[in-house]
Amino acid sequence: MNWLAAKIYDPFMEGLEEACLRQWRGELLSEAVGRVLEVGAGTGANVPFYPETVEEVVLTEPHGVLREKLKGKVPEGGPFVVSEERIETLAMEEGSVDTVVLTLVLCSVADPAGALGRLFRVLKPGGRLIFLEHVASERPGRHRVQRWVEPVWKVCAGNCHLTRQSEERIGEAGFEMEWIKRESMRKALPFIRPSIRGIARRPGSVSENNQKSS
Ligand SMILES: C[S@@+](CC[C@H](N)C(=O)[O-])C[C@H]1O[C@@H](n2cnc3c(N)ncnc32)[C@H](O)[C@@H]1O
Repeated sequence: MNWLAAKIYDPFMEGLEEACLRQWRGELLSEAVGRVLEVGAGTGANVPFYPETVEEVVLTEPHGVLREKLKGKVPEGGPFVVSEERIETLAMEEGSVDTVVLTLVLCSVADPAGALGRLFRVLKPGGRLIFLEHVASERPGRHRVQRWVEPVWKVCAGNCHLTRQSEERIGEAGFEMEWIKRESMRKALPFIRPSIRGIARRPGSVSENNQKSS
């Protein structure tokens, strides 16, 4: 994301946050438990919605301008730790995290399949991926528009792709879908509106986890 896009990210998103995203973030984040990893945390739009019961929330944000804004939103003395790691170079141990949070990130990573594979591995068996992503439209006319706009949009908006099939990529990475909802993001530009949100699980169970650690 270029410097200007990062600077205007919050005001650009405000109408959309108010129309639907804030409510969706609140519903999704209420499911976060234990040790949490949020990748590409941006300016910290999810921070107010973490339940008080979480043990630790590692917020990674590689972009310097966004990370400074994120640090400003993180309350002192809370469970939050801010890091500059990219998904590609995550140093977290395999099977060490209870919840991974990914909101509006798969659109802009260079290799979504590789990223999801890495996130799958850092989750404990039975751990959950909370996701919210804008995706390719199922309507042929809108999909065509997304394909036309995408080359220019990617350059202006930090490699943000409009035609990603993120539901398929999540399944291919080995996750089991607990639930998924497809809904239009009201107040977004028409080519960004198609979205998915939900929770997917790394197969396995918490008891399997406990046996490994005992
Ligand atoms: C559209 S913003 C979304 C920010 C925030 N998650 C939200 O919901 O508002 C996309 C974010 O993904 C981050 N990102 C892009 N590629 C990444 C990568 N390879 N590793 C980690 N974060 C990445 C960007 O720095 C940016 O913060």
